[in-house]
Amino acid sequence: MSLPSRVKIVEVGPRDGLQNEALTIPTEQKIEFIDQLSNTGLSAIEVTSFVSPKWIPQLADSIDVFNGIKKNPDISYSTLVPNLTGLERAIEVGAKEIAIFGAASETFSQKNINCSIAESFKRFEEVITHAKPHGIKVRGYISCVLGCPFEGEIAPEKVASLAKDLIQLGCYEISLGDTIGVGTPFKAKRLIELTAKEVPIQQLAVHFHDTYGQAIANIFAVLKQGISIVDSSVAGLGGCPYAKGATGNVATEDVIYLLQGLNIETGIDIVKLAQTGIFISSLLNRNTQSKVARAIAAKDFNSKQKL
Ligand code: HMG
Ligand code: MG
Repeated sequence: MSLPSRVKIVEVGPRDGLQNEALTIPTEQKIEFIDQLSNTGLSAIEVTSFVSPKWIPQLADSIDVFNGIKKNPDISYSTLVPNLTGLERAIEVGAKEIAIFGAASETFSQKNINCSIAESFKRFEEVITHAKPHGIKVRGYISCVLGCPFEGEIAPEKVASLAKDLIQLGCYEISLGDTIGVGTPFKAKRLIELTAKEVPIQQLAVHFHDTYGQAIANIFAVLKQGISIVDSSVAGLGGCPYAKGATGNVATEDVIYLLQGLNIETGIDIVKLAQTGIFISSLLNRNTQSKVARAIAAKDFNSKQKL
């Protein structure tokens, strides 16, 4: 299969990126961060999570953040929702898209959302049933698709079957999460091969954490199979508090650089994105994890350099 001509980037920095940070970012600064992202040409931003603040304290201000951001009608602003309590909040703030999140590993499911995979599907069904009359689109995540921090290897057939089940429940898109970044290109390719037999490839997204520096190689491998939706996190922020040792998502700037080099359209301004990555990194008292952003900054940050 040939490479796609256009890729949709789902920017997960404000959610996946911040959820793991010990330093609390004030609400106004989160809003400023998301407003900057809205100015970069992104079409999908995962803003926050309507989860228990006891589990994810950093996102306890999720309602204020969601209400505070300037909404561009061309951008889908989504939020994670684990159950009906989360959905009530999503409805309250007028969210048009939510994401439910399950796992291909029983142990990870218990650690992350405090229930078994089977129980999680009952919750998802409730959430989807109640979301639909409000016209809310539902995205589905599957975590640990290429390995679990507790159980090790995960059978790709299991992931493919769960992806099919989530589509049947009513998800419009499935994001396959390499939560701990253990995947390598052949394994990623095999996973997509099997999953695409159950779910049309246009409805599959990839979500690579970059713990072992494999994310860009994995993305290239699956683009060649026809994947055209990639989750990423500006400045490479991210991690899951319930997956010890997992580092950030692949940096959005690095993905855009790869895609530009492959003549694949994204509609995103890489320089503006790099600036936003540097902004949020400075709030977190660190340098951006994106090598591309560092290179852009080192040359002449404000120049409209062609890459
Ligand atoms: P629980 O403790 O089993 O829930 O948590 P509960 O129903 O027994 O309720 C306990 C308390 O939480 C109650 O409050 C509820 O009201 C409250 P209390 O009476 O004790 O004061 N509560 C809520 N509050 C706000 N929003 C809600 C909500 N639900 C209950 N929605 C629960 C179950 C699912 C809520 C909990 O386990 C949870 O919030 N987990 C979220 C964990 C999380 O966000 N993990 C990170 C995101 S997943 C990820 O990063 C992976 C991904 O990026 C893909 C990849 O990389 O693989 C997506
Ligand atoms: Mg993640």
